[in-house]
Amino acid sequence: MKRRGFLALSAVSALALLSGCGGSDSNTNGMGNGNNGNGANGMGGSQGSTLPSGGIKTKSLPIPALLSGDDRGGVKHYDLSLQKAQHDFFNATKTDTFGINATYLGPTLLMQNGDEVSVNYSNNLGELVTMHGHGMHLPPSMDGTPHQPITAGTTWSARYKVNQKACTNWYHPHTMDKTAEHVYKGLAGLIMIEDAKSKGLDLPKRYGEDDIPLVLQDRFFNNGQLDYNPSRMQVMRGYVGDVFMANGAIDATLDVEAKEIRFRILNGSNSSIYNLGFSDGRSFKQIATDNAFLEAPVSLTRLRLSPAERAEIVVDLSSALNQTIEFRDYQHNKTFFTINVNKTATTTTTLPNSLTTLEKLDPALAVRTRQFTLDGSMGSFQINGKSMDVNRIDESVPLGDIEIWEVTNTMMVDHNFHIHATHFMPIERNGSAANVAANEKGYKDVIFVPANESVKLIVQMKDYADNSVPYMYHCHFLEHEDAGMMGQFVVTS
Ligand code: C2O
Ligand code: CU
Ligand code: CU
Repeated sequence: MKRRGFLALSAVSALALLSGCGGSDSNTNGMGNGNNGNGANGMGGSQGSTLPSGGIKTKSLPIPALLSGDDRGGVKHYDLSLQKAQHDFFNATKTDTFGINATYLGPTLLMQNGDEVSVNYSNNLGELVTMHGHGMHLPPSMDGTPHQPITAGTTWSARYKVNQKACTNWYHPHTMDKTAEHVYKGLAGLIMIEDAKSKGLDLPKRYGEDDIPLVLQDRFFNNGQLDYNPSRMQVMRGYVGDVFMANGAIDATLDVEAKEIRFRILNGSNSSIYNLGFSDGRSFKQIATDNAFLEAPVSLTRLRLSPAERAEIVVDLSSALNQTIEFRDYQHNKTFFTINVNKTATTTTTLPNSLTTLEKLDPALAVRTRQFTLDGSMGSFQINGKSMDVNRIDESVPLGDIEIWEVTNTMMVDHNFHIHATHFMPIERNGSAANVAANEKGYKDVIFVPANESVKLIVQMKDYADNSVPYMYHCHFLEHEDAGMMGQFVVTS
């Protein structure tokens, strides 16, 4: 209780200090939600937010609208309008944003495995965009890469049959050279896939009540406007803002029942690594990685997520009635939101010990190893010595072959690696299977590759051969991706 009073007071005094200090290299964040800075470097770029007078708008944690799909002739349609908007991060100043059926971010798309779906993106942004279903197992012509441009004023539909296990995926722009800026302005949303097995598990499933979607981000603001202006150093090291937010709200509060609560967490940042946990140090169980449940829950007190990674966790708050707990990033010492456990449970759930069965490919059956070297220097980023060229196919991957993809980061900064179209499993880090953490032994589509480290992935392209339309692999630090750390592959029949 005391703590919350202090937070409110410090936010006010920090705002007073910050007004009129634009352009300073102050790392003060004005939120009262931490005191660690952003690494601003005095070489241009964004150097600490300036917030508008009037303060941050006090909010309950926003829960994105849930779209289950509008059945038209046996196809579930999701109609999404990408639009220019103004969002209320602050009381007295509106922030120019992009939103999807909303003023910032977009609705959660609920899909059932096996359903025929059509995700209809109408581009009302006044500029070209492309929209990608991240984590979706679908044909390359439906992937929403730079090969499927949506020009201003037109609608493009990703039409496919949902064909994968229950998981939490997301959709976001994949516009050539502009992905980072488009995401920064607010274009992103979650996709929740359910299957017969997931529906039978005794897990929290009341969306927005005990099954909470979380899009975690950080931003810089300049007098209340989004400030997308990374310096070369910020591009290199990660463009980590000093204002942290969940579902488009700063310092929000979440009221929950005293019971097991499930969070579906997306690191929706451009290029920040988050190390997540609860302010009272309590442990929680990770139940899912990017593309599926883990076979069994993994107990953690901290959860590291690099950009675009997802995790589902269950935290038991059944004996926390009347407690206030912050959900924090310990990498940057920032609070995303505050949980008030202020309602008695109306239902209970008991986390199962066994969640799913995963298919584990045998490395001995791999027919080849591909090497991917992440390399570059100031302002230039490559994979295997090449910057992204939308007209060049870098790899041809035969349908059905089991392969090892070895990703080596030769740089002194962190990266990660994302493969479209399929999940993979990490089998070694730095040459040893023992270095793969228990909560990474699952279906993944993004893997963290720290500075000067390497990781081995086991991969199999099982469907959707197309000799001409490529998928992408890339670093998901969006500034690196836009600067060329991306390549293209086709799945050949
Ligand atoms: Cu999340 Cu190629 O992207
Ligand atoms: Cu993707
Ligand atoms: Cu990178």
